[in-house]
Amino acid sequence: MKDAESPTIYLADYTPPNWLVEEVHLTFRLAPRSTRVLSRVRFAPNPAAMSRAFFLEGEELTLISARIDGAEVKPEVTPEGLTCAVPDGPFLWEAEVEIAPEANTALEGLYLSNGMYTTQCEAQGFRKITYYPDRPDVMSVFTVRIESDLPVLLSNGNRVAQGDGFAEWHDPWPKPAYLFALVAGDLLALPGSFTTRSGKAVELNVWVRKGDEDKCDFAMEALKKSMKWDEDVYGREYDLDIFNIVAVDDFNMGAMENKGLNIFNSSAVLASPETATDANFERIEAIIAHEYFHNWTGNRITCRDWFQLCLKEGLTVFRDAQFTADMRSEPVKRISDVLDLRGRQFREDGGPLAHPVRPESFKEINNFYTATVYEKGAEVIGMLKRLVGDDGYGKAVQLYFDRHDGQACTIEDWLKVFEDATGRDLTQFKRWYSQAGTPVVTMTDSYADGTYTVTLKQTLPDTPGQTDKQPQVIPFAIGLLDPSGAEVVPTTLLELTEREQSFAFEGLKARPVPSPLRGFSAPVVLDHATDNAARAFLLAHDTDPFNRWEAGRQLAKSALVAMIGGGQSPDAAYLDGLRALVTDETLDPAFRALALSLPSEDDLAQAFADAGRTPDPQAIWEGREAMRSAVAEVLADALPALYARHLVTGPYSPEAGPAGKRALTNALLALISRTDGGAAARAQYAAADNMTQQLGALSALLGAGQGAEELAAFADQWRHERLVMDKWFMIQVAQARPEAAAATAAALAERDDFTLTNPNRFRAVFGALAMNQAGFHHASGDGYRLLADWLIRLDPLNPQTTARMCSAFQTWRRYDADRKEMMQAQLERIAALPKLSRDTGEMVGRILG
Ligand code: ARG
Ligand code: ZN
Repeated sequence: MKDAESPTIYLADYTPPNWLVEEVHLTFRLAPRSTRVLSRVRFAPNPAAMSRAFFLEGEELTLISARIDGAEVKPEVTPEGLTCAVPDGPFLWEAEVEIAPEANTALEGLYLSNGMYTTQCEAQGFRKITYYPDRPDVMSVFTVRIESDLPVLLSNGNRVAQGDGFAEWHDPWPKPAYLFALVAGDLLALPGSFTTRSGKAVELNVWVRKGDEDKCDFAMEALKKSMKWDEDVYGREYDLDIFNIVAVDDFNMGAMENKGLNIFNSSAVLASPETATDANFERIEAIIAHEYFHNWTGNRITCRDWFQLCLKEGLTVFRDAQFTADMRSEPVKRISDVLDLRGRQFREDGGPLAHPVRPESFKEINNFYTATVYEKGAEVIGMLKRLVGDDGYGKAVQLYFDRHDGQACTIEDWLKVFEDATGRDLTQFKRWYSQAGTPVVTMTDSYADGTYTVTLKQTLPDTPGQTDKQPQVIPFAIGLLDPSGAEVVPTTLLELTEREQSFAFEGLKARPVPSPLRGFSAPVVLDHATDNAARAFLLAHDTDPFNRWEAGRQLAKSALVAMIGGGQSPDAAYLDGLRALVTDETLDPAFRALALSLPSEDDLAQAFADAGRTPDPQAIWEGREAMRSAVAEVLADALPALYARHLVTGPYSPEAGPAGKRALTNALLALISRTDGGAAARAQYAAADNMTQQLGALSALLGAGQGAEELAAFADQWRHERLVMDKWFMIQVAQARPEAAAATAAALAERDDFTLTNPNRFRAVFGALAMNQAGFHHASGDGYRLLADWLIRLDPLNPQTTARMCSAFQTWRRYDADRKEMMQAQLERIAALPKLSRDTGEMVGRILG
């Protein structure tokens, strides 16, 4: 359906369901082109409803037959569902439909992936499986029978029967249809078990295709750690006899928390030292935890409607971040999260796709699985915790579980438990959920007679459809250092509630140096006139690790902006500070690796845009290259020894300690390769027995304009490992010089092993192109054209992934007239397609504005 014809759904229009479901029985007779789905659904009128009209969602289904209380009926069928005359009271609905999993390239509903049947129902995929009230506030108990010759047949809940060619599953916990799942295939399991704290034994399995069984151990361990952590920290126990995880190659997102049967993109499960990087291991641990944690925050307590998505996603992202911080390094996790937030969420919040954490309207809900809902949603929970304290947070969350178990809830329910548990009025806080845009906090300060005064002013930018915003509650953590670098005021939480407010610190002996917004205590842009001397001072002395990193980052950014925009040479204060930090053996190597990475090209483009200047992607690329070379030269005397000191040899472990060292040595190697002709990187490549060091070496070589031989050898070695080949596709596009990026991507996309229907492969090439800013925005316009060409090819097959990738164009208004015109032309070309999907239509429409 075309965008213009797709209806807009509004939060304000919510009404309760007319009919509730008491129980559901489903039978699947699996066949690639003609799967039959038989449903038996007991409906009862909802006492809270205003009407008894009967509508079941259903899309792309062939209705074979339907009965009500045993008598055949002829419903009125439309492309969106069916209506039917029904009794006044409870009744039994039975229907048989036919679907074609093999033809399903959208990867939504029931589909085939490498010979295995799998499902993805969130958000509205169940309606492609059978006719049903496909909305999260209709919760019911499911019993599922699967008939197939395939050896492994899985669904939600506990297995109740199994025999030749069939299996039956029963899930005792009422759930919405979006949590339904089914898997059937010739799969192998890595088995495991976990005993809950009340002594219940749970069977665990990680199911994979043959050949992948040696890549499951880490996921299994991560699952056990997650189960234990949720008991220890949130008091949440697992509630079924079995927990299954399945790895699938074709998947639109990372993973899905279906009750008792989590389905994962294989890239988010499979890992061995030889094939996965440290970053992959960390991501797998986090996603396993995230999906597991959904069992309570998402499944036992779900969302009333899709506008409440952040209720489960913001909270679960917050929980998985706490988990990662506990398992690894808290500051490193915080810094990485803020990098990601600024990189993806701030960009979204500052452009045409800006929307509140709880959106108020949508055409296609899949377009709202965004950085704003997930990552800003998690930041909002973090602020709430900061404001009410750890104790208050703990009490409120327990009240949430007690009060709402088994319910489909709203943000209002969530905030009410905090009000009831802590006595705090959250009326103003709630604006974080309804006002889009990143607040700017302007800080000024003064000092007189031992009193230091901080004045904070908040500005809330206009966003699409929203102007004249009300002030928000901004928790602003600040510490003060004296001129010797000693901390004189430890971290103190200021609560900014007015548009402008002053806070005084008394009894100081000298004018202090402020360390503002410690730990990034609120997702805001801090506007604070400071200088490089103050930044260098904080870089050397701050006790807050986040702000120490932030000071270095700001130094790097201002140095880069001066180089790019003013032709200045690399700033000495930055280079000196960097040397001190990188060689400081008291600091965590992972932290030092982060300090070595420069602000991204996109970050710098935004910095120019914020200053009212037009970013030049080519100049930004050249500036970063020059800065890297300057760092490599200035540190040249120290780099080889540092590299040798931290190089990890011996058996591989994905733990944070050695991973941090590998991150540091890989960052050093990239610098060394600029001056040593690639010798050190070639040595690391040859010696590497793990993917982190192999890929790190390859990347360093490519970054220095070398590595053609290694690139070919890599493809030869890993031809049969599709996840490793994704890395091979990606790195070439990511590391291509600006003028070569589009041609590189175009050539890769012509290869036989480029599969349009596999989202991982598509993203490896075209996601990398969109990330290669100078390549994508090359003045020739080739990047824009190529991406549009391929989005146009993908849209009829997979609207969801196409729509997500359109966001590569979201910053188009920031650029010069030529680039703007070229991007607009491509967007309009996509928008004009006669059969454009609703997903892509909505995205392109919003981006064009
Ligand atoms: N609930 C999943 C998660 O965040 C995301 C699944 C979303 N899928 C989609 N097609 N919109 O864990
Ligand atoms: Zn989630």
